[in-house]
Amino acid sequence: MFRSFTDKMSNTNSANNLLVNALSERKEAGLLRSLTLVGHLTDFCSNDYLGLAKNRELSSQISAEFAAWESQQGRDVPINGSSGSRLISGNHAYTEDFEKACAQMHQAPAALLFSSGFEANLGLIASLAQKEHVIFCDKLLHASLIDGLRLAPAERRIFKHNDLADLVHLLDQYPQETLKWVVVESIYSMDGDVAPLEALVKLKESHNFELIVDEAHAGGAYGPEGAGLCVELGIQDSIFARVITFGKAWGNAGAVVLGSNELRSYLINFARPFIYSTSPTPHHVLSLHTSMNFVRKADSLRIALQDNIHYFKTLQKSADWGESNTAIQTFFVTGNEAVRTKAAQAQAAGFAVKPIVFPTVPKGKERIRITLTASTSSEAMQKLVETLESNA
Ligand SMILES: Cc1ncc(COP(=O)(O)O)c(C=O)c1O
Repeated sequence: MFRSFTDKMSNTNSANNLLVNALSERKEAGLLRSLTLVGHLTDFCSNDYLGLAKNRELSSQISAEFAAWESQQGRDVPINGSSGSRLISGNHAYTEDFEKACAQMHQAPAALLFSSGFEANLGLIASLAQKEHVIFCDKLLHASLIDGLRLAPAERRIFKHNDLADLVHLLDQYPQETLKWVVVESIYSMDGDVAPLEALVKLKESHNFELIVDEAHAGGAYGPEGAGLCVELGIQDSIFARVITFGKAWGNAGAVVLGSNELRSYLINFARPFIYSTSPTPHHVLSLHTSMNFVRKADSLRIALQDNIHYFKTLQKSADWGESNTAIQTFFVTGNEAVRTKAAQAQAAGFAVKPIVFPTVPKGKERIRITLTASTSSEAMQKLVETLESNA
């Protein structure tokens, strides 16, 4: 039976109306998201912690190394795209070479590359946590981990942020033999505070669980050669899986899951974002390899970042600043409207900062999230703090 053209049009109209209504509800609630260009403002909102996304020396190295690789390839080699998913036609020597070198840098037996941190987390959590398992997650986990949990059949328990007593209380409710996963971030993306990683590793001895650590905000910026906080603390062998993302301190995009060779094979078999997606392009993977070599040698940038964090903290006089000692700093302004107004003042003064509103953060915890990089200038930090702390 064919539907008339007018039927189809009215369906399309009502579908479109659904979207319009949902958007206007968001707008009325003051929660409408929209895209803006921040190009001309002084950066205080990117995750480019070492300034590598803008680094010309790195960009020249990436171009030169790609050109050298390309010139050695025969006519039948895909040079612009990978040509398929890894399990079909998209597995290439340059990708396996990168994964091996990346695993070695992070002192892990194996690494598996994903196109983004979101996909890595989604694929890892959704495929690992089975029906008969229990997965314990910190309340402030990133959306990519939460979405992985939503797809996983395991029972989910949420513990208070960084609160080990609460975690123990939940763990004690399950038999020793139940397989338990605990998921944390080494540095939390909204508050910039650090997970009690050493205490968690100690807790494993008495409470029998496996630990998964998302190192998105620590990779490249912390640890020897930028290998992350777990390596800095020497606990890498006690972590079941680590996720390092490349869109932040590495100044690129993508992510690896680090762990055993068995974990790598398991993800190749069961992680759907890995299996059913075109693998990253040769240019992407080769640029990651070049970036990795650059990151390993970037101690001076890691030191500059730490110096900037230290200096920024000395400028803070108001009680509205959060506790963080990392590149993610927070200035609390209660209420969605008030925090938006404060952010608009800072933007008008030339600073790229973003208000983080409810429901992204709990009510009453609205804040301006500020990120520092190795190249943030002292003058910009002084002026930003003045602007935020002024009552204008
Ligand atoms: C803690 C955390 N994990 C994962 C991701 C996702 O990584 P990607 O941007 O590479 O998809 C982010 C991104 O903001 C993050 O903050």
